[in-house]
Amino acid sequence: MEIAGSSGLFVGGASGMCRATATKFAERGGNVAILDLEQSEGASVAESLGGKFYPCNVMDYDGMEAVMASAIGDLGSLHFMVNTAGGGVAQRTIKKDGTRHALSDFRRIIDLNLIASFNINSIAAQHMATNEPNADGERGVMINTASIAAFEGQIGQVAYTAAKGGIAAMTLTMARDLGTHGIRCMTIAPSLFDTGLTAGIPDEGALQLTKDAAFPKRMGRPQEFAVMAIAIFESAMMNGSTLRVDGGQRFAPR
Ligand SMILES: NC(=O)c1ccc[n+]([C@@H]2O[C@H](COP(=O)([O-])OP(=O)(O)OC[C@H]3O[C@@H](n4cnc5c(N)ncnc54)[C@H](O)[C@@H]3O)[C@@H](O)[C@H]2O)c1
Repeated sequence: MEIAGSSGLFVGGASGMCRATATKFAERGGNVAILDLEQSEGASVAESLGGKFYPCNVMDYDGMEAVMASAIGDLGSLHFMVNTAGGGVAQRTIKKDGTRHALSDFRRIIDLNLIASFNINSIAAQHMATNEPNADGERGVMINTASIAAFEGQIGQVAYTAAKGGIAAMTLTMARDLGTHGIRCMTIAPSLFDTGLTAGIPDEGALQLTKDAAFPKRMGRPQEFAVMAIAIFESAMMNGSTLRVDGGQRFAPR
């Protein structure tokens, strides 16, 4: 799809990889709406990109419908939706002291990553389906964020792996569901990226965590996610897949 004149919702767009994608989209003539937590830097980021900020919490499933409708109403229509809101918890299936992984924590991570992503996607798709198609029959593109932990989860990542694996697994099915509407659905699975989420990791730790990459052996940069997201928007053949952006890294068990 053509970026100039298109409109995008960037969920998690106040920071990191989604912010970098919103920035590239705006630089190329796209209209942006930033959706993020109220306490985030969403307002200043949106202002710098000529867009508006819509405070939200992706775990407020019903509330998201109204927030997204309001943002899309202001934009006029929706062609692109990028969602990076998510996160994990560090807990083993059975902890060292023999106690079990708290079910409430497992469920919270599934809710935050998988249920929230599905909710956002179904709302976005409902709006995109009302667009006039372009000459290629396209109406919109949605990108979710998994992790390479979806495929090689490390010790202590069982909830996160299940949630991100669910996002990767639903990608093709959702693309098939939405094919008749001319809506594409893709997932990006990053390795370790230098963002707000990883800001607390010291340089020494980052070196250790990226030592098994083929090349480059470093954390990814948010722009390297953005380049991929923009390519997905522009190439009509990118659909139904989860793309690893990981420097050839495969996580070891720990
Ligand atoms: N950074 C990494 O190393 C890495 C690696 C693999 C996968 N990921 C995935 O990328 C995503 C995080 O993106 P990032 O690394 O750019 O981090 P980031 O913290 O810089 O950006 C994430 C944004 O999402 C927002 N957010 C978090 N929870 C939210 C909620 N409940 N409602 C609304 N907004 C919310 C945050 O406020 C933040 O602005 C997560 O889904 C994470 O699992 C990150």
